[in-house]
Amino acid sequence: MNKTLVNIGLIGFGTIGSGVIEIFNQNIDLIEKKVGKEVNLKKVVDLDISTDRGVEISSEKLSTDVNDILEDPEISIVIELIGGYEPARSFILKALENGKHVVTANKALLAKHWEEITAVSEKNNVRISFEASVGGGIPLLQPLNESLAANNFEGIYGIINGTANYILTKMSEEGLEFDDVLKEAQEKGYAEQDPTFDIEGHDTAQKLIILTILGFGTYVAQEKFHVEGITKITPQDIEFTSKKLKYVTKLLGITRKVGDELEVRVHPTLIPQDHLLASVNDVFNGVYMIGDSVGPVMMYGQGAGMMPTASAIVGDCIDIISNPEKEITYGPPQSQEKAIKNMAEVVSKYYIRLKALDQPGVLHKISGILSKYHISLESVNQEKNEENQSIPIFMVTHKASEKNIMDAISQIDQLPEIKAPCMLIRILED
Ligand code: HSE
Repeated sequence: MNKTLVNIGLIGFGTIGSGVIEIFNQNIDLIEKKVGKEVNLKKVVDLDISTDRGVEISSEKLSTDVNDILEDPEISIVIELIGGYEPARSFILKALENGKHVVTANKALLAKHWEEITAVSEKNNVRISFEASVGGGIPLLQPLNESLAANNFEGIYGIINGTANYILTKMSEEGLEFDDVLKEAQEKGYAEQDPTFDIEGHDTAQKLIILTILGFGTYVAQEKFHVEGITKITPQDIEFTSKKLKYVTKLLGITRKVGDELEVRVHPTLIPQDHLLASVNDVFNGVYMIGDSVGPVMMYGQGAGMMPTASAIVGDCIDIISNPEKEITYGPPQSQEKAIKNMAEVVSKYYIRLKALDQPGVLHKISGILSKYHISLESVNQEKNEENQSIPIFMVTHKASEKNIMDAISQIDQLPEIKAPCMLIRILED
């Protein structure tokens, strides 16, 4: 008896697309055995089909016309790997409207157009799968949405940008300046030529939006939460916080339930050295989640790269072929959707570094301002120096509200004895 044939179209013959082709070339027997059907990567579309990507693909399968996929009734699954908003959004919507399932790694698009894309997929009874969009090759989203569906989550904490994590790891291991590590990472091809998206936290924010939908049933647009990158971190901060305070510095995406509200935020965070997340180094990603039934769980692995990301893409194809009719709801019911806490009301411990003249009365002035805003200090350290020189002072506060800290810092910064604006890093709560 002939096996049913499933045809797949791939839009985007870049690095990840080449990885997908490689997996279909190498592991087709395994894939077909798994799904019990014949699987054919029928068409690969890209504007550039002449550059050699180092993978084997017959020239009849290549096309520059996206309609060779979108309008082909024999193709039932479309993989979108061009990234960005347009034309990816139009291609995905057209594929869904034409009754095709879609597999994508496009976190930017999902984070921005989640409601539109999932509504169109639901209306047309086809699936949209996006395991590769967060954490690359790590099995993360499907387990979160399905295997862990019995849980109410207290919090999800993610190191989900490999570039930022690589830079912070190198700064910490080698005591280097941010700009020097970034330059080296760019030379090695680890960081993009324009790394803004990764180092300013936007990539982490988009991935956190997806995790927040799946973990808490709440969609939050990026403009609605605090996003801060890692560019102001210095080797001095890393050295002091690791040696004296026993923390590691990580760019963290955090969503946590506080009362009836959700805190959603992305910023550099000091994590205790014995926390599981502290061991997530280099380009690796780690997502730590706390469910009310399962307790703490951490997913760890390669969050980017050709083959790990392609692995998640092909995994999604296999899942769709095995369960094309599966109805998926994302996260807890929308009735449980939560309001987002205003960042000014978020409460945290803070590390503060400032540079002040070493003169009598300076600390008194600083602590006067802190006490005016009800901020209590856990520790203060000052480096030795010649009198009247400016010196770094390192402080750790007890818990305080963001609003009080920000108001206090803006007053401290205006003192004539303060020679550089305060640097502030939030500390992960126990
Ligand atoms: N640029 C991302 C990172 C990989 O550095 O982790 C793609 O999500």
